Amino acid sequence: MKNKSIEYAKHITIGFALLYTLMIFIKTFDFTYLTIMSAILVSILFALLHNTYTLKNTNKCKKKSDITYDIKTEALSAYIKELDKTKKELNRKNNELIRFFDEMQYGYLQTVMSLANSIEAMDAYTRGHCQRVMEISCELARVLELDDVQIENLRYAAILHDIGKIGISPNILNKNGKLNDAEFEEIKKHPQIGYNILKDIKFLKEAVCGILQHHERYDGKGYPNGLKGNEICVFGRIMCVADAFDAMTSDRPYRKGMRVEDAMRELERCKGSQFDPSIVNMFLNLMDSEKKPSILS
Ligand SMILES: [Fe+2]
Repeated sequence: MKNKSIEYAKHITIGFALLYTLMIFIKTFDFTYLTIMSAILVSILFALLHNTYTLKNTNKCKKKSDITYDIKTEALSAYIKELDKTKKELNRKNNELIRFFDEMQYGYLQTVMSLANSIEAMDAYTRGHCQRVMEISCELARVLELDDVQIENLRYAAILHDIGKIGISPNILNKNGKLNDAEFEEIKKHPQIGYNILKDIKFLKEAVCGILQHHERYDGKGYPNGLKGNEICVFGRIMCVADAFDAMTSDRPYRKGMRVEDAMRELERCKGSQFDPSIVNMFLNLMDSEKKPSILS
């Protein structure tokens, strides 16, 4: 717009200059003056033509860049549309994966429950015991502020902690009365047997340490490896307390289960020797608190 105005102004100026020259010539008939003025006007005209040509070329270039800009905008819109489509597709696939993952987890859980049932079929005493150890262990894990994934792994470890008993003679497992030394040595193999059965199962790889170590003692006098203190994994230390509490308070064919208060006193007495003292303290606090879970009532 600005360039066009300048262009009109130039044309008007030249028009006035030509008119003025003509009038002077008519008035004076001076050919020298006419020649000089004509030369000046031709130069101005030439310069103007040159400017107009340059301006047109510039406009042409601008139009080209405008076209390029339009093409780029169009390409960008198409790209954004494509991205939207891809995003929707990704969301759909993601939801599908979440569904498959849930189904897989449910499948895992069913497998674990089948294995746990197979222990109960072998050993009448363990009926309900694995479930209770699992629930107590998970309560302790929450107090210890383990994350959700760790609690899920602990859940698997606790429900399967005695799976190795399927490798022990039912005569020993269901014996009415105290075990002799040889029988006790046989029973002591169950954490290692359980570990050997499950160690290659991928989704249990974080859980198997608890299965192997749930009979280790804090003072290093446990089995199968005589681990001590924090050498025992946290799952093993938690499950040891939960397992002992449930074992003490459950009825056996040859004896009645202890009262809860007596079992708590026994845990207190054995903290630092058999049990991790900090976990026993947490357990006792949990038992005394108003938030005591129903499994411990
Ligand atoms: Fe056990």
